[in-house]
Amino acid sequence: MTSSPTLALPGGTIPMLGLGTWQSTGDEAVRAVSGALELGYRHLDTATGYGNEGQVGRALSLVDIDRDDVFLTTKLPPEHAGRERRTILESLAALGTDHVDLWLIHWPPGGKAAPEVWQELRRARDEGLTRSIGVSNYSIPQIDQLIEATGEAPAVNQIPYSPADHDPELLDAHRERGIAVEGYSPLKRTDLASEAITKAAAVHDATPAQVVLAWHLAHDVVVIPKTTHLARLEENLAALDLQLTAEEVAAIDALGW
Ligand SMILES: NC(=O)c1ccc[n+]([C@@H]2O[C@H](COP(=O)([O-])OP(=O)(O)OC[C@H]3O[C@@H](n4cnc5c(N)ncnc54)[C@H](OP(=O)(O)O)[C@@H]3O)[C@@H](O)[C@H]2O)c1
Repeated sequence: MTSSPTLALPGGTIPMLGLGTWQSTGDEAVRAVSGALELGYRHLDTATGYGNEGQVGRALSLVDIDRDDVFLTTKLPPEHAGRERRTILESLAALGTDHVDLWLIHWPPGGKAAPEVWQELRRARDEGLTRSIGVSNYSIPQIDQLIEATGEAPAVNQIPYSPADHDPELLDAHRERGIAVEGYSPLKRTDLASEAITKAAAVHDATPAQVVLAWHLAHDVVVIPKTTHLARLEENLAALDLQLTAEEVAAIDALGW
């Protein structure tokens, strides 16, 4: 199995393929996350709002893998604006670690950019509670407000991204600002029966899900598919071994037009 390519962030490197954990709960979440780590996943995406940081922490404690070898993301619920530090300390306690690798503002608080919240994330980073900081579900104008207010761009914007969402200008706008794009709901938002996808899958003896994830990687979009099933954990990770041709990528791009 190829190990995941990485992107450089200000506070470290992020493996481009990670495991999503929204709606993974209870023992099933513990089994999925520890199983994923044993298969070779080194990037986990959780959030205070998912209510499963404890399960993610438990999974990490069960496997014989160094904490430093795992990239851990969690997120601040927008309604926790004003109690940011307390929230990250609770996340760290649940996860059983003294820092995360990436802390995101989950949604723009009250639908606004909220530079005062961004300032608190910068403080937490300076204190060593998180290595990198970023946002999720932010528009480019909202990101520009954060940059104007503090001089610092988020390291990452985690947004819905799939072939149906493909928007080269949006990817460029992030890149111009030095922001990595992380795509969520990559499979849910995709019609896996689309011809461009099934055709590439047949040529490469791959599954449609693998083609979609390889398409994200071809666009340098970090991708975090969620599953609790061992066979799918393996299937999704094996997307790292799939290289689409430029023509196949272009055909899948066209699904977004
Ligand atoms: N920042 C945000 O606001 C935000 C919002 C949504 C999601 N996220 C993050 O992004 C992660 C991924 O997004 P998501 O969970 O919404 O959607 P997703 O990963 O696109 O899709 C997950 C669904 O696809 C199924 N699945 C997984 N692998 C499959 C495969 N190989 N073939 C067919 N079906 C497969 C899963 O089922 P099984 O589990 O039954 O296998 C599950 O129903 C989340 O878990 C979360 O960490 C962030």
